[in-house]
Amino acid sequence: MSQPEVVILPEPAALAAEGARRFVAIARAAHARQGRFSVALAGGATPAGMYRLLADQPYREQVAWQDVIVGLGDERCVPPDSPHSNFRMARETLLDRVPVPAANVFHPPAELPPAEAASAYAGLLRRHFHLRGAARPRFDLILLGMGEDGHTASLFPGMPALRETRRLAVATEVPEYVQPAVPRITLTLPVLNAAANVIFLVAGADKAAAVAAALTGPEPDDPLPARRVRPESGRLVWLLDEPAARELR
Ligand code: 6PG
Repeated sequence: MSQPEVVILPEPAALAAEGARRFVAIARAAHARQGRFSVALAGGATPAGMYRLLADQPYREQVAWQDVIVGLGDERCVPPDSPHSNFRMARETLLDRVPVPAANVFHPPAELPPAEAASAYAGLLRRHFHLRGAARPRFDLILLGMGEDGHTASLFPGMPALRETRRLAVATEVPEYVQPAVPRITLTLPVLNAAANVIFLVAGADKAAAVAAALTGPEPDDPLPARRVRPESGRLVWLLDEPAARELR
């Protein structure tokens, strides 16, 4: 497991551009190698700028979108047209603006009861990655954000989902301080750590303490969820803006 690469950008626009540049590079390498590129998109607000860049030139024309497979790292259990929906954010900023075949896009059916939605999403993963038995999907790229509490995807500190070692996706409640206060569907750590590339995109001074806890210091007994993301045989990159990096030595 290699050490994470940490890249500090001066401000969010530069963070978005660096993320888009790396997305394209990984997509092109995967397509050249295997004829397709699989990516799990991060939710939340931070990645929106990067997704918008990818939908415009010069990035758009550099990706073979017809051979891209797109999943979601996590989803809130809200209707697909809710302003809180990660899938809606991904559609509006990227997926409705690039020619990814609809059959190649899969996301948790968040309108189902949470446990059913998680099971259905795991089934979609198995189908799109042609998995059998206990095999895990190996995304070419998983994009992640991080909350002030060090959560990533919808793996929150102290919640059972963080300890899942077998299922590919699970439903989880959220701690009382999290908004929107709705259940989530999330990829589990085994899937995140099976990825060929993981890129965190984190911006803002409010994340600085969690960034420092996730990236530096001795291994704590109870590491933050974001610190537990260490791809077993993949590359880990943290793209930070300067305010988010200000507590790093
Ligand atoms: C979600 C995300 C979550 C997000 C962080 C950071 O569904 O909210 O998957 O893990 O990446 O909460 O969110 P912001 O980018 O909005 O700060």
